Amino acid sequence: MRFCVFGVFLFFLVPSPISAGFYPNSSAIPPDLRRNATGNVWNSFLNFTGCHAGMKVDGLYKLKQYFQHFGYIQGNFSGSFTDDFDDILKNAVEMYQRNFRLNVTGELDDLTLQHVVLPRCGVPDVVNGTSTMRSGRRAYEVSFAGRGQRFHAVKRYSLFPGEPRWRRRDLTYAFEPRNALTEEVKSVFSRAFARWAEVVPLTFTRVETFLNSDISIGFYSGDHGDGEPFDGQMGTLAHAFSPPNGHFHLDGDENWVVSGDVGGNNFLSERAAIDLESVAVHEIGHLLGLGHSSVQDSIMYPTITTGRRKVDLATDDVEGVQYLYGANPNFNGSRTPPPSTQQRDTGDSGAACRIDGSRSVLTSLLLSTVGLFLGLYML
Ligand SMILES: *[C@@H]1O[C@H](CO)[C@@H](O)[C@H](O)[C@H]1NC(C)=O
Ligand SMILES: *[C@@H]1O[C@H](CO)[C@@H](O)[C@H](O)[C@H]1NC(C)=O
Ligand SMILES: *[C@@H]1O[C@H](CO)[C@@H](O)[C@H](O)[C@H]1NC(C)=O
Ligand SMILES: *[C@@H]1O[C@H](CO)[C@@H](O)[C@H](O)[C@H]1NC(C)=O
Ligand SMILES: *[C@@H]1O[C@H](CO)[C@@H](O)[C@H](O)[C@H]1NC(C)=O
Ligand SMILES: *[C@@H]1O[C@H](CO)[C@@H](O)[C@H](O)[C@H]1NC(C)=O
Ligand SMILES: *[C@@H]1O[C@H](CO)[C@@H](O)[C@H](O)[C@H]1NC(C)=O
Ligand SMILES: [Zn+2]
Ligand SMILES: [Zn+2]
Repeated sequence: MRFCVFGVFLFFLVPSPISAGFYPNSSAIPPDLRRNATGNVWNSFLNFTGCHAGMKVDGLYKLKQYFQHFGYIQGNFSGSFTDDFDDILKNAVEMYQRNFRLNVTGELDDLTLQHVVLPRCGVPDVVNGTSTMRSGRRAYEVSFAGRGQRFHAVKRYSLFPGEPRWRRRDLTYAFEPRNALTEEVKSVFSRAFARWAEVVPLTFTRVETFLNSDISIGFYSGDHGDGEPFDGQMGTLAHAFSPPNGHFHLDGDENWVVSGDVGGNNFLSERAAIDLESVAVHEIGHLLGLGHSSVQDSIMYPTITTGRRKVDLATDDVEGVQYLYGANPNFNGSRTPPPSTQQRDTGDSGAACRIDGSRSVLTSLLLSTVGLFLGLYML
């Protein structure tokens, strides 16, 4: 019911669509746009490497806003975050490290910040203070010994509170008409839908009636009316809402590579290139009712590496979506489980905390009271 209210809200705000940048491959991205890819404010967080509890560092409040945006800091701090590395921040860092399966140090070590600055999905990892990435009700561990070697498999997919899902099996989708997308771009989404339809008994049919389709797909720039503004190149790439809302928004300021040819021999162009199908497959997972997973190889992992393509559902994704909809009787592919996703530690030894007081003011990520309420329900 909450989602219906939100849908009406969106409808009346009439978001302003833009013509997004689509490229056949990363080499085709213009040089000035490549350079801008490192300009996202999140990159400045790397300057906090080595910071720990008890310190006070200019700009640290922006990192708190980041953690609040993704659910790691709860509650009412509107406008009152300080630059102190207090318990609020320490708890957020620890929860983040658990979710991303990093060493839980509570400090801003190098590896943690390398994760924080990666472009990612705008949907929070934590809802209502409970991490949806790791400790969902369905999470359990299976251990067994084989050939003298311990095998360790963990289900880490997550669902939204209340486990919302579509009741109908024949779903429709439509594109924001004002985006005037080419057939080539639209076909990327149709391939992404097909990857999910392969494993569950759902069908996705493209229709032209944007306002009446189950799923509506649009590219937007900056503030587009749902309290979750996009942030220019990199940062958040897209977000989508849990069933039965159906809204799927992508950041029109990214350099979307549509052919899948997202790698390249040029470091700068790779850094700036986002594979559209990879993001589409991820967001469709949200549209179907999946939250984020802490399995790094899964589609539902929150971050995406630039210049990389990740479109194949992992076992964790398949198990999650089949929990909601059952298995497609025509699907018999037993997918090879990805190898356990152990993180390596760079073993970064206490880099001095770099302090720089001249950073530009970060666009406030604080949500209004209403926005916070709605944001909690965003996928
Ligand atoms: C990338 O796309 C451009 C424009 O279509 C094309 O001219 C170029 O050959 C492509 N480069 C590679 C490496 O495929
Ligand atoms: C690059 O970013 C700057 C500000 O960060 C902006 O003014 C400029 O328009 C951007 N360039 C392009 C080509 O988007
Ligand atoms: C980060 O620190 C470096 C110096 O250590 C400085 O040149 C750079 O401007 C800082 N970046 C930001 C975004 O504050
Ligand atoms: C947040 O705190 C302010 C003052 O402390 C209060 O007026 C406001 O009602 C609070 N909002 C919520 C949602 O609790
Ligand atoms: C969030 O927590 C409050 C209090 O524990 C609870 O009443 C509310 O239903 C929760 N909301 C969700 C979406 O879980
Ligand atoms: C499994 O799929 C293959 C083709 O992908 C097909 O040839 C085979 O008959 C299927 N097996 C079953 C038991 O459905
Ligand atoms: C965690 O820290 C220990 C000790 O510093 C190190 O040996 C280990 O490799 C780290 N593990 C991860 C996953 O970072
Ligand atoms: Zn996501
Ligand atoms: Zn949106």
